[in-house]
Amino acid sequence: MTEIRNIVILTGAGVSAESGIDTFRSEGGIWEQHRVEDVATPEAYARDPDLVLRFYDMRRAAIQTKVPNAAHLALARLEAAWPRHITVVTQNVDDLHERAGSQNVIHMHGEHLNAWCTTCDTRTRWTGTLADRPPCPACGSKTLRPDIVWFGEIPYRMDEIQAALARADLFVSIGTSGAVYPAAGFVRLARERGAHTLELNLDRSQGSAWFHETRLGRASEVVTAWVDDVLR
Ligand code: OAD
Ligand code: ZN
Repeated sequence: MTEIRNIVILTGAGVSAESGIDTFRSEGGIWEQHRVEDVATPEAYARDPDLVLRFYDMRRAAIQTKVPNAAHLALARLEAAWPRHITVVTQNVDDLHERAGSQNVIHMHGEHLNAWCTTCDTRTRWTGTLADRPPCPACGSKTLRPDIVWFGEIPYRMDEIQAALARADLFVSIGTSGAVYPAAGFVRLARERGAHTLELNLDRSQGSAWFHETRLGRASEVVTAWVDDVLR
């Protein structure tokens, strides 16, 4: 392997699982409790905004009761010690990476703790509810929606992500099933550009075959062990 300088880390719901936040596709996961078409598309929001806003109000309240686990903390420790670029690209909409201390985090699927005004395009940090239609602090319109990328919408900051992937020597995927594009395709982009690719996950994912190496286990254990290795 060439010397590792720049690292891109892609995280998914599995990194937050041990903090008590449900994953999407596991048994009893979020997409077994709710249908994607009912709560996570622009069409669902147009059809039944109350249902969609209540769903995200519940999720926004829930994440605020959770705390980062050993995997989030290990990634923050790695970033603090690493002399070159580390980019955490997360599909997660919780703020546990930030609360663990990670600085360079890209939320490609948005953030629970933001409200987005569709009238004036302002984003406001939001910890309360939206189903009661509070006014936008910037323009007063009652048009705040969750700042979440729904199915059929384009993920955020793709240019920055592609640039980070292009200069990565190491790409690490943690706790994601590889079911949702474009994130599921990042391993191939990074590999084409010459990065070593490593997957850390509870079980083999849909994308496992694309990685040079897969280490299986709970994120709190495999991520911590991997960070210890890299910093040794
Ligand atoms: P998934 O629920 O699809 O996959 C979670 C992955 O984490 C699975 O492969 C699990 O095996 C693994 N996992 C579970 N517990 C773990 C643990 N303790 N340690 C390590 N791995 C564990 O979640 P994502 O891949 O993140 O999008 O889903 C991607 C996107 O689909 C989400 O961002 C969301 C969803 O629809 C939007 O809402 C836009
Ligand atoms: Zn506004």
